[in-house]
Amino acid sequence: MKVTVVGAGNVGATCADVLAYREIANEVVLLDIREGFAEGKALDIWQKSPINLYDTRTVGVTNDYSRTADSDVVVITSGLPRKPGMTRDDLISTNAGIVQSVTENVVKHSPNAIIIVVSNPLDVMTYAAHITSKFPRNRIIGMAGILDTARYRAFLAEELNVSPKDIQAVLMGGHGDTMVPLPRYTTVGGIPVTELISEDKLTAIVERTKNGGGELVKLMGTSAWYAPGAAAAQMVEAIVRDQRRVFPVCIKLEGEYGIDGVYLGVPVILGKNGVEKVIELQLNDEEKQLLETSRGHVKEVMDALDKMTAAKA
Ligand code: NAI
Ligand code: 2OP
Repeated sequence: MKVTVVGAGNVGATCADVLAYREIANEVVLLDIREGFAEGKALDIWQKSPINLYDTRTVGVTNDYSRTADSDVVVITSGLPRKPGMTRDDLISTNAGIVQSVTENVVKHSPNAIIIVVSNPLDVMTYAAHITSKFPRNRIIGMAGILDTARYRAFLAEELNVSPKDIQAVLMGGHGDTMVPLPRYTTVGGIPVTELISEDKLTAIVERTKNGGGELVKLMGTSAWYAPGAAAAQMVEAIVRDQRRVFPVCIKLEGEYGIDGVYLGVPVILGKNGVEKVIELQLNDEEKQLLETSRGHVKEVMDALDKMTAAKA
């Protein structure tokens, strides 16, 4: 299996590193526009192979898409990260240009690939890549839900003083402050979380999760990369190993949850064809309302992108 990661920055290089040391692909091509940058990162990852004992070949290239040809999966992480004071949506115009030009090249050289978008604002960048690629929706998806759920699970594990391995959760909606954590579907070793934690503490953890990205931007001056890179690699693994894992993934909704044509995070089954199935949960009225708010926000940013595109044409 061949996987390309576009953008050799913090998230892209971390993703490539996880793909290599966990031997998720035979070959990982790392591509960046910055001269020599991807080559350096790929060489560093390759030089770690005798220490960590893996044989995934990692290759770095400067904007040379011919070297990415016939990739099975392509992860797009190219684009600007958030700086303090910025929202993910502030990145829309710059990152849409980058994501769309990258997608054009990906489609040309790997027409059968499954594309995983990571660049922000995530839901709208997945939309941008979809418009450009015209791929069927199962092959053009976005990574955010695994990361947001991981943050939620990590905070819960800390609060309950249990292993994060035993926390199962699902989260829906857009990647932003309107994301929809679902305590009703959260369990700790099979026990509903609501039996183990007070409502106040759970609400505080849900709020911290919603601001999880911003918390790290404030601390580091740029956005996170270890968990995002690993989350993208986990999606690649589910696809290349046809694991049929159940993950929250950003996909174009086509009637599910009563929503049509908007890109939102929902639980799906992820396997060799990308999204094999969208899972429809029976949401209660409060959850439906939260999802509707999230839908409205993402749609606004999708419309803003459409206006920018129309103005340029
Ligand atoms: P970074 O600045 O470390 O890396 C971005 C890389 O993209 C740079 O090396 C840059 O040279 C490269 N690049 C820019 N234009 C390019 C082009 N046209 N072709 C190829 N490469 C190009 O940024 P970082 O931290 O890796 O973040 C990347 C993106 O991922 C950002 O948009 C960030 O907001 C987003 N992100 C999304 C998350 C999610 O959950 N979906 C989580 C974390 C970050
Ligand atoms: C994150 O959630 C900023 O989307 C990025 O870390």
